[in-house]
Amino acid sequence: MDRVHLFELADLAWYPRTLADAGTAYLRTLQAKVGVAQYLVPLATRGLAYSPTRRIVDLCAGGGGPTPDLVAALPDRPELLLTDLHPNQASLEDLVDDGVSVHPTPVDARTVPADLTGLRTIFNALHHLQPDDARAVFRDAQAAGQPILMAEVSERSFLSLTLGSALIPLFVWLMMPMVRPVRLSWLLLTYVVPLLPLTIAWDGWVSQWRTYSLAEQEALVAPLQREGWTWEMGQVQAGPGRITWLLGYPLAAATSPA
Ligand SMILES: C[S@@+](CC[C@H](N)C(=O)[O-])C[C@H]1O[C@@H](n2cnc3c(N)ncnc32)[C@H](O)[C@@H]1O
Repeated sequence: MDRVHLFELADLAWYPRTLADAGTAYLRTLQAKVGVAQYLVPLATRGLAYSPTRRIVDLCAGGGGPTPDLVAALPDRPELLLTDLHPNQASLEDLVDDGVSVHPTPVDARTVPADLTGLRTIFNALHHLQPDDARAVFRDAQAAGQPILMAEVSERSFLSLTLGSALIPLFVWLMMPMVRPVRLSWLLLTYVVPLLPLTIAWDGWVSQWRTYSLAEQEALVAPLQREGWTWEMGQVQAGPGRITWLLGYPLAAATSPA
């Protein structure tokens, strides 16, 4: 099946912020409940070994995604800086604690400020970017000499596009009371006028269509092959689904190779 870049509601400029934020806050809750972070621990450990600082700079953080749970699960917990071009401010601020902070201004994953050193992570977001922009994310990390870990829980597979997507409204319906921060409007738009189960399901289904396959990831980084820089990629089984990942790092920067 070819990659299809249909529109996601959350990407549309006119789409109400509160509905877009409901989607990213739900996505954070879902990933916390199914324990996505545990599958990312070995990859992040490896990436951090090539990072100049013990910090994770999360790009496209949305409502936080799996990253706060990931840093909590890592040995010698790294700092975490949450960034996004259109941050879900309330959800991100809810996650702030000792080692977790939110960047005060929007950060474009394609042009990250040079002072934000550390392992860059981009979870469940590469599919928002068309190939040239997706490549720009990796090019920027490479030019800055910072390792980068990308992972997606969505996948362009028959199971994800059918049964997986069909179950999204039910998951939204079941999980909305657990989504933080609690917003009355989100509860009303789930249980009184069930708009959110439908809008989140649409964006989830489109995400699966947009997700890059391993072969497409190969093509993204092919022009970025350099001596002293490694690109690795693969898939890990995560329950009934699979996580597709890509890790890039500068060999010269290795502090304690995993
Ligand atoms: C589906 S959410 C993923 C959120 C989170 N990482 C997770 O795993 O739940 C995608 C996020 O990517 C952000 N985004 C899209 N294009 C971006 C860009 N060029 N730079 C930074 N963030 C971007 C959106 O604002 C949105 O919050």
